[in-house]
Amino acid sequence: MKRIAVLASGRGSNLEAILEAAERGGISGEIVLAISDRVDAPALEKAEKGGVEAVFVDPKKYSGREAYDQALVDQLNRARVDLVVLAGFMRLLSPLFVRSFPMQILNIHPSLLPAFPGTDGVEQALAHGVKMTGCTVHFVDEDLDSGPIVLQEAVPVIQRETVKTLHQRIHAVEHRLYPTAIDLYCREKLKVEGRRCFILE
Ligand code: GRF
Repeated sequence: MKRIAVLASGRGSNLEAILEAAERGGISGEIVLAISDRVDAPALEKAEKGGVEAVFVDPKKYSGREAYDQALVDQLNRARVDLVVLAGFMRLLSPLFVRSFPMQILNIHPSLLPAFPGTDGVEQALAHGVKMTGCTVHFVDEDLDSGPIVLQEAVPVIQRETVKTLHQRIHAVEHRLYPTAIDLYCREKLKVEGRRCFILE
């Protein structure tokens, strides 16, 4: 069984969906740790409720990004984590962190990458006027929202859409897509060649 850690800064609805999927056997791995950079993140509470160790690592206690990321790496190593899952973790990870877990970090982004990377993927899609957006699960490399794509699903933009309604519908898809991608990773069904990620039979 792969040992999984989830890093989240906010609401934690993806973390919740991942916990539920693991609970019902939809992920062949164990969620062993949740980490947040915000003390008041509802995600931490949700992890604890699900019986998962929840740790707040305070950015203010470290001199800079590398020192902070080293503290995260130490936590992940202590828990003997095989897979790091970013679920709304609002910090750009340093090369130090990414190199500590090569092709072992997944992220979910609320757009069809490479369109609309960055913190406001939903707002950007709406402002651009696209008729179709969605979400992307990808491996994390040293650039922003740029690693090999594991799974994507489209979500249409409807008339009179607002950021709130569009994000809600994207979230609903995320809650299904992310556990699926995590399970594929845990069952060693993902094979990365360059930028392409193949799903093995
Ligand atoms: C999701 O929309 C995800 O795509 C983005 O951050 C959001 C996290 O939401 N990376 P939640 O905290 O899981 O509810």
